[in-house]
Amino acid sequence: MRKKVIAGNWKMNMLPNEAIAFIEELAPLVKDTENEVILCVPYIDLFYSLLTVQGTNIKIGAQNMHFEESGAYTGEVSGKMLKSIGVEYVIIGHSERRQYFAETDEIVNKKVKAAISNGLKPIICVGETLEQREEGKTSEVITKQTELALEGLTNKEVENIIIAYEPIWAIGTGKTATSEDANNSIKEIRNKISKIYGQNTAQSVIIQYGGSVKSSNAKELFEMSDIDGGLVGGASLKAEEFSKIVKYK
Ligand code: 13P
Repeated sequence: MRKKVIAGNWKMNMLPNEAIAFIEELAPLVKDTENEVILCVPYIDLFYSLLTVQGTNIKIGAQNMHFEESGAYTGEVSGKMLKSIGVEYVIIGHSERRQYFAETDEIVNKKVKAAISNGLKPIICVGETLEQREEGKTSEVITKQTELALEGLTNKEVENIIIAYEPIWAIGTGKTATSEDANNSIKEIRNKISKIYGQNTAQSVIIQYGGSVKSSNAKELFEMSDIDGGLVGGASLKAEEFSKIVKYK
């Protein structure tokens, strides 16, 4: 049985003092959950967040990293740096990075490999645009993104990653994919992994849904057969609301 993994993606929100206050409010609300709880916070909040989650069941992730370990890349942060302060997860290839920062499938693949080699768990985002969806290309787009992101990984490595299926038209728009639609897309991704890496590996991979997840729709989404939790944007900025998503049952 795969466990449910609920991750918040704060995007470019929350100052360090707000991050600390948020975690202090969230920790007692989620302390008894069996689900995995992750907060992916801005770089500036990482260290404060890591100190504040000590002794709780909340894990901390970053939202991006560079694929090189060090060097002349002004403004960038490497996987080695993230690992050195105790970060466990890192979002790779979020659609906002693909769209605004020209991240290609090739860059995503390099970052995934660098994350794994530094002992970080990547949360790899895939998802189609509205236009691609309307042209009936959803399956083709998301399975290709998955294949390219995972290229060159071993079975064991694939078993330990997390994929987040985030249809771009559902991000921050209040529009959610129906639970059936989201489940079907996630099944397509799992089938693709099965074809390349085999059924056992495909059944082990955690695949989340992301896109306007909130406490009022989390239960319906997360109870679907192939949806293993969520990557939550806007609704992860309020501790009480996020705790309800974590404890969706
Ligand atoms: P929203 O939950 O705000 O739609 O954002 C989803 C997302 O992009 C999470 O990574």
